[in-house]
Amino acid sequence: MNREDRLEKFQGIHIAPSILSADFSRLGAAIAEVMEAGARVIHFDVMDGHFVPPITIGPLVAAGIAEQVHNAGGVLDVHLMIDQPERQFEEFAKAGADAITFHAEATPHVHRALGAIRELDCLAGVAINPGTPVEAVSELRGSADLILAMTVNPGWGGQAFIEGSPEKVSRLKPLAGDALIEVDGGIGTATAGRMAVAGATLMVAGSAIFGAKDPATAYVEIRAAAEAG
Ligand code: DX5
Ligand code: ZN
Repeated sequence: MNREDRLEKFQGIHIAPSILSADFSRLGAAIAEVMEAGARVIHFDVMDGHFVPPITIGPLVAAGIAEQVHNAGGVLDVHLMIDQPERQFEEFAKAGADAITFHAEATPHVHRALGAIRELDCLAGVAINPGTPVEAVSELRGSADLILAMTVNPGWGGQAFIEGSPEKVSRLKPLAGDALIEVDGGIGTATAGRMAVAGATLMVAGSAIFGAKDPATAYVEIRAAAEAG
């Protein structure tokens, strides 16, 4: 897929299940369940033990699931919570990432890094922590395909949604230009609608989906909440 085809797949409202909260002993089956329920964006959380304390998964696991996700008509949304993210873009692109998002706090060269991701034909995303002002991305209009506003502090699934997030995203919206707005952390039926109204179209949900008894039903309910606004 080239960048244009990838961009197309990310249009519209999407609930992106985060596999961080999935059962890794049956990862393929967990992904199949949510994709059969309609999910088309699979969120992939990479942590390095430096930018955030935990260490999670890397390109080997991404390569292990990319074919399954693509064959089912989906895309892989890679969220890098790592220092020196530029060093890893190529590996993740080779592994089958469709969007690669790094943190603005993790590199002094945000603009250059976005360009490097686009050169790999992937969607280029920049993420900001809850404590980072929306103005941090105000110069990136046209350079970022996606802006991710964290709605919890990065590092762990299952944290409480930060209540000021809808208001923050509504201030981000006019600065974002054509870039898609993604939100990540504490998203579920109680919060997805408010984030959609604020301007987010791509909403990550980890524990609310994979922590539920029936992840497929949870996915459908969160999508309905987002669409109802
Ligand atoms: C947290 C990760 C999230 C995480 C969200 O740092 O970036 O993607 O999986 O988990 P929930 O939806 O449980 O808040
Ligand atoms: Zn994430």
